[in-house]
Amino acid sequence: MDGESIPDPRRSSAVTTTALRAAAARATDLTKVYGEGDTRVTALDQVSVEFAKGEFTAIMGPSGSGKSTLMHCMAGLDSVTSGSARIGDTELVGLKDKQLTKLRRDHIGFIFQAFNLLPTLTALENITLPMDIAGRKADQAWLNQVVDTVGLRDRLGHRPSQLSGGQQQRVACARALASRPEIVFADEPTGNLDSRSGAEILSFLRSSVRELGQTIVMVTHDPVAASYADRVVFLADGRIVDELFDPTADSVLDRMRRFDAKGRTS
Ligand SMILES: Nc1ncnc2c1ncn2[C@@H]1O[C@H](COP(=O)(O)OP(=O)(O)OP(=O)(O)O)[C@@H](O)[C@H]1O
Ligand SMILES: [Mg+2]
Repeated sequence: MDGESIPDPRRSSAVTTTALRAAAARATDLTKVYGEGDTRVTALDQVSVEFAKGEFTAIMGPSGSGKSTLMHCMAGLDSVTSGSARIGDTELVGLKDKQLTKLRRDHIGFIFQAFNLLPTLTALENITLPMDIAGRKADQAWLNQVVDTVGLRDRLGHRPSQLSGGQQQRVACARALASRPEIVFADEPTGNLDSRSGAEILSFLRSSVRELGQTIVMVTHDPVAASYADRVVFLADGRIVDELFDPTADSVLDRMRRFDAKGRTS
């Protein structure tokens, strides 16, 4: 790496900050095995990783490397075979379904590649739906801030079919942030969007970290998308193989090429 002899203050501060900051989520020796016998797949192989509070992390890696599995296990959407997954101080492993549902509802936001909006509800109703189900009142000031940050003020009464793909994904982002979760997991949130709508979502996610103090973990295949993050974690074959702080699209591409050279990416 060419920058190694020149101390980069941004890089070293990112490392220090991560070390000092409390973890919003943490996996320790997390293993996930699907199936049995011939169909047995080790999707995650003793993964240990921390996501610091107030940090934007991108997860990259070839198809099938375990990115979605890691997010699902850490968000309590899938069970763990062995090891530990924590949100803040709460251990997810061993929680009963009801407790998991409550934890997800109150502390975790999830943004899927397909926006998963309810077609019969307006944008605003979709955004507040999780809180309405939980019987919780939205913090109006926060909700206003989120709606303004995603730029949906003049579309709140529209139904999903009346919104563009980018706007629908912004509704999904606002929904994930509306309850002020401790952490937001996003699985290829820009995968279905054109580059302009994608850039809008990425700018929003980044400003929600910088300005609203959110913690975000985002899976992406796109080096440009990853460059919006503070840190990139690389997965291959169910293991973490590398990480990069203060990424640029070029530095991410460079790392990806290194894996290519070793024949590890698809
Ligand atoms: N429900 C399941 N049952 C069996 N195997 C599964 C299941 N879900 C995932 N897998 C396997 O686990 C491995 C990791 O899958 P995962 O979806 O986490 O990959 P990914 O990195 O998100 O890939 P992509 O970039 O294609 O979304 C793959 O080999 C996949 O086939
Ligand atoms: Mg995936």
